[in-house]
Amino acid sequence: MFAKRRVAILISGRGSNMASLIEAAKAPDYPAEIALVVSNIPGAPGLERAAAEGVATAVVDYKAYPEREAFERALNRALTAHGAEILCLAGFMRILTPWFINRWIGRMLNIHPSLLPLFKGLHTHRRALEEGVRIHGCTVHYVTPELDSGPIIAQAAVPVLPSDTENALSARVLRQEHVIYPLALKLVASGKVPLQQGRVEMEADWDERAALVSPQSACAE
Ligand code: GAR
Repeated sequence: MFAKRRVAILISGRGSNMASLIEAAKAPDYPAEIALVVSNIPGAPGLERAAAEGVATAVVDYKAYPEREAFERALNRALTAHGAEILCLAGFMRILTPWFINRWIGRMLNIHPSLLPLFKGLHTHRRALEEGVRIHGCTVHYVTPELDSGPIIAQAAVPVLPSDTENALSARVLRQEHVIYPLALKLVASGKVPLQQGRVEMEADWDERAALVSPQSACAE
């Protein structure tokens, strides 16, 4: 029997990505267990969802701390108290300082709703529609001090349809977030994609045929 890595998930809101990780971690052969869900916002809907799944929860309310570093020290205490070894940011909308990030470097992941390095920051779906891209998506990456710039672990791409609204596109991307986050955590927890010299080391035997062409209809002509 292998030892499962202990994972803490950091949220600020509804926690649908958190729920996908909790669900995946129920599988007996999944290499990680969810030890804690922490929210920086009291009453975040994801907290109730986690508790209903029997996962320990904590709130570290950033408004209760005068400085960012005091908040992060409290957060760090909650994480170490629960024996967290890997952190997953899942809709955690608080910028972390290099002090905190460097403590968790190589052990902290984030999911971002775009194909990085495109559309860093906020309003990614709106900006993708404005730019007229034909393919959009999501990325799981290691967190480094520069925002949305860490080494990439996994990505999924979706087509952008002519009829798309921000909501429709966001829902299509979110469905893929729920696929790649559990996949990326599995790779990290099983030691298959270590961060080495600022890059993700990958095994070489990947299927080179995977491709998404958009618009797809033009291919059929
Ligand atoms: C997700 O779409 C996630 O990619 C995004 O917030 C949403 C959280 O939803 N994260 C960011 O924008 C981080 N910059 P969830 O609470 O249902 O997982």
